[in-house]
Amino acid sequence: MSKIVINHTPPLSGTVRVSGAKNSALPILAACLLADGDSTIEDIPNLKDIENMIALIKWIGLDVSPLENYSVRIRSSKLKNHEVSYDLASKLRASFLVMGPLLARMGRTRVSLPGGCPIGTRPIDLHLKGFMAMGAKITQGHGYVEAKAKKLKGAKIYLDFPSVGATENIIMAACVADGQTIIENAAVEPEIVDLANFLSSMGADIKGAGTDTIRISGVKDLKGCNHTIIPDRIEAGTFMVAAAITKGTIKIENVMPDHLKPVSAKMREIGIGIKEDDTSISVSAADRYKPSDLKTMPFPGFPTDMQAQFMSLMSIIDGTSIITETIFENRFMHASELKRMGANIKIDGRTAVIEGIKKLTGAQVKATDLRAGAALVLAGLAADGETEIGEVEHIDRGYHNFEKKLISLGAKIRRVE
Ligand code: UD1
Repeated sequence: MSKIVINHTPPLSGTVRVSGAKNSALPILAACLLADGDSTIEDIPNLKDIENMIALIKWIGLDVSPLENYSVRIRSSKLKNHEVSYDLASKLRASFLVMGPLLARMGRTRVSLPGGCPIGTRPIDLHLKGFMAMGAKITQGHGYVEAKAKKLKGAKIYLDFPSVGATENIIMAACVADGQTIIENAAVEPEIVDLANFLSSMGADIKGAGTDTIRISGVKDLKGCNHTIIPDRIEAGTFMVAAAITKGTIKIENVMPDHLKPVSAKMREIGIGIKEDDTSISVSAADRYKPSDLKTMPFPGFPTDMQAQFMSLMSIIDGTSIITETIFENRFMHASELKRMGANIKIDGRTAVIEGIKKLTGAQVKATDLRAGAALVLAGLAADGETEIGEVEHIDRGYHNFEKKLISLGAKIRRVE
């Protein structure tokens, strides 16, 4: 079992390049199940979740070969398996994203239910409602969900909540369905637009991705294409907080500043200097930061995936900051770990009240989930003494070369086996 050990770090400085977005790469890899022919996908981050998704689509029947510079070539022809076992599905929540493509392409699919995860119960009812509206027959039992439809039919689907995963699954299913599908109250996250761009390059007819109404007209088939994954806005946001929490000045390259608007706005409100270019963001610390309140919301609101990192920052800002988590019901587990480092945080349901303290102190803590782990790394950079983080496999699911990139900026961080 490896651990990450961090020592108090002087202000970070230098330049760091952000990798391709995990949350774009996952649905795009699943979408390859819809195509016939070769696709080349560039800027696939080298992460555990991606490794597991690649293993999954290979098992279903795709031929995946790594190319240089984090690119992969995916050769798709006949699919072999429509079933995803518990062993495969339990390694990766996003495994459920293969359901839409398999249903559309093979007329049936049987996928192990992803189950809950530390941050919440994470139901899939909206995905299933979408498939049912398109004519699929759904049955559940023995921990599996099975969907069958000889040919999916376009339908009008209103999502009760703009779920990212449900929007993606329904878009993929609708691409080769009969007729037009309209998704209302669709998610508008940048990763939805990236998936739609990829599918359009494969020959799909999708209009309105990035707005809350997406219209997909089914086409006969899809062909392979070339695509570059958008930069990871959450990785970029995490480095922004790393600069702020160490009182450093860094430049983050390969970013789309528009995707980070809610994060940049909050940082400016706190008093951190943010300068945007076409494809980079420079972050510079100030002597004093102001406390602030934030509420997580679907895009373009403040991302839930940045909430934990901001909690670390707010824990050392003089005054009271309040965080409200509206997306996931159990996403404050990092608070108890931060408290072990001296943070003064009170949780009441979905609200966290943070009274800023002067300094965190290094302690033994554990990463309870991916972003909680990132938050603890950030806290460790700013804390006095040594911080030892366990269960770092959560961090490896989502940050490509995290320690290496932080070391290049001057962080005192190492991994011990
Ligand atoms: C995706 C991201 C994740 C991010 C989240 C919210 C990927 C691989 N993961 O997760 O990093 O934190 O978006 O931005 O892209 N819900 C239902 N029924 C459903 C589906 C979702 O009630 O059928 C609820 C969930 O319980 C949650 C909320 O909707 O409370 C948001 O979930 P969703 O947008 O679906 O998140 P994911 O796609 O799982």
